[in-house]
Amino acid sequence: MIMANQPPPEPAELPSIPRHIAITMDGNGRWASARKLPRAAGHRRGAQAAKETVIAALELGVEYLTLFSFSSENWRRSAEEVNDLMGLLRYTMQREANDMKSRDVRLLVIGDRARLPADVLKTIAAMEAKTAANRQLTVVIALSYGARDEIVHAAQQLAIKVAAGTLDPLSIDTEMFGQHLYTHDIPDPDLCIRTGGEQRISNFLLWQAAYAEFVFTDTFWPDFDKAALAAAIASFQARERRYGGRVVG
Ligand code: IPE
Ligand code: MG
Repeated sequence: MIMANQPPPEPAELPSIPRHIAITMDGNGRWASARKLPRAAGHRRGAQAAKETVIAALELGVEYLTLFSFSSENWRRSAEEVNDLMGLLRYTMQREANDMKSRDVRLLVIGDRARLPADVLKTIAAMEAKTAANRQLTVVIALSYGARDEIVHAAQQLAIKVAAGTLDPLSIDTEMFGQHLYTHDIPDPDLCIRTGGEQRISNFLLWQAAYAEFVFTDTFWPDFDKAALAAAIASFQARERRYGGRVVG
């Protein structure tokens, strides 16, 4: 058989991989109940899916991956579930830090640290320090995170500077505001994925997702894998992003 000898596509023709993907990892509890397992078992499988997704993102050439791991609203769950989740987060961060370092993955945590237990804060500090020089992929773990809190926090930081007389209020623009968010120095997400069947934002990256494309999937988070990530990326690549600037038709 003679193979068609086609030249490889020029780089400009290659569909672009989203630089930053942000994921709302929902459906752990329903995954567990469907199997008559406790919710904690769903969270444990969810942590495995997160690890697999980090490796898939590395292999696919994604530069930034933000994982919504625990929201500011999740503190309202039962003390037992909050404890399970904090324990699992700490255990997973401790266990994976060395592997992430060897894979050139930088880990950052965003969110309201004041509410986190001391042992979790210690684990975060060690993990961030260990991986600070890594560059292949940045994984941003949103933990005790709420976007409205984040925006209010930025407003407070700016107001403090204005009150101190070091900042002209009229010099505040979107660029400066963004630099006062937890995500300063991280590019805005290009693609936001939510698993678990709900189609809402739930206080995630409200400012940063201004021009993001959204993909919603019914897949429960523990079942999410490289194929699911690739499918979401393919859906992203099929869309035309216009940022409000161009009229078509
Ligand atoms: C997502 O799964 C994990 C966290 C919010 C920490 P859920 O725990 O929300 O699972 P469902 O939505 O009840 O299935
Ligand atoms: Mg949920």
